[in-house]
Amino acid sequence: MTIPASIADQPPAYLNGTYLPLAEARIPVLDRGFLFGDGVYEVIPVYGRKPFWFERHLERLQNSLDGIRLPNPHTAERWTEIVAGLVCRSAHDDQSLYLQVTRGVAKRDHAFPKDTVPTVFLMANPLSTPSPESIRDGVAAVTAQDNRWLRCDLKTIALLPNVLLRQLAVEAGAAETVLFRDGKLTEGAASNIFVVSGGVLLVPPKSPLMLPGITYDVVLDLARQHGVRHEVRDVTEAEVREAQELWLSSATREVLAITKLDGRPVGSGRPGPQFRHMYALFQELKAQFRGSPGAPAHA
Ligand code: PDD
Repeated sequence: MTIPASIADQPPAYLNGTYLPLAEARIPVLDRGFLFGDGVYEVIPVYGRKPFWFERHLERLQNSLDGIRLPNPHTAERWTEIVAGLVCRSAHDDQSLYLQVTRGVAKRDHAFPKDTVPTVFLMANPLSTPSPESIRDGVAAVTAQDNRWLRCDLKTIALLPNVLLRQLAVEAGAAETVLFRDGKLTEGAASNIFVVSGGVLLVPPKSPLMLPGITYDVVLDLARQHGVRHEVRDVTEAEVREAQELWLSSATREVLAITKLDGRPVGSGRPGPQFRHMYALFQELKAQFRGSPGAPAHA
């Protein structure tokens, strides 16, 4: 098999106990992740070779595994070792760590197989954060009805609905699709969404209808610590459409202003003062985390 040049630059990977170059990692076609999307994943940013808020990622991984009734193949200590082994094999200080656990390889049958060993796969790609232009100018988003299942709180690898929803944005020349269910904001196709309305930061509460983003928690923590007025409550579609500011958050995009929604400017059409404040706080937190040699794997 020829490896496309785009994946041939050999980031390090880990597969079932072995570290190897990503382009050499192979799984059998009977893996339930391949056949059924039967697995869960995490995306963990690594700053200065330290995984950011790692304990929270492990907690969310446990929650996703519990949600699909797959026993965790490793203890927290073992996960820490596996991740440390991968992080030190990368050429980059800042990385985007992808971690996936599937229900393993078995004869194709919907029912859970007995005595099957889960497949554990990780890769460490260089972290690519938003461009200076998108931070300065913000990005465009479109909207769509949230037609996903009712367990969006589980970070499963079965992402076809998210893929289709994100593609709507791509085809409109936009960066994200903002989702509504029953007239309320849920999240983005691959991010959480924050709204500034009447000077107050609004964000939906965690529920089975959205992924509990780790960056969402970081932003809310910063809001609390720095006295940013905020409310965690249901946000209506009308509030999103009339927002002064809209932001998205995710591990790889950090916090980013949405300045155009469905072709119309959000507020002034420029990243607002609240965004600029939060962006600065976020960068400060990252710098502190990166700079403290003895910092634990969480902030
Ligand atoms: N996605 N909601 C959805 C549906 C997501 O896919 C993501 C992240 C988030 C934000 O979560 P966090 O702050 O923990 O990254 C919210 C990752 C980055 C991905 O699938 O690549």
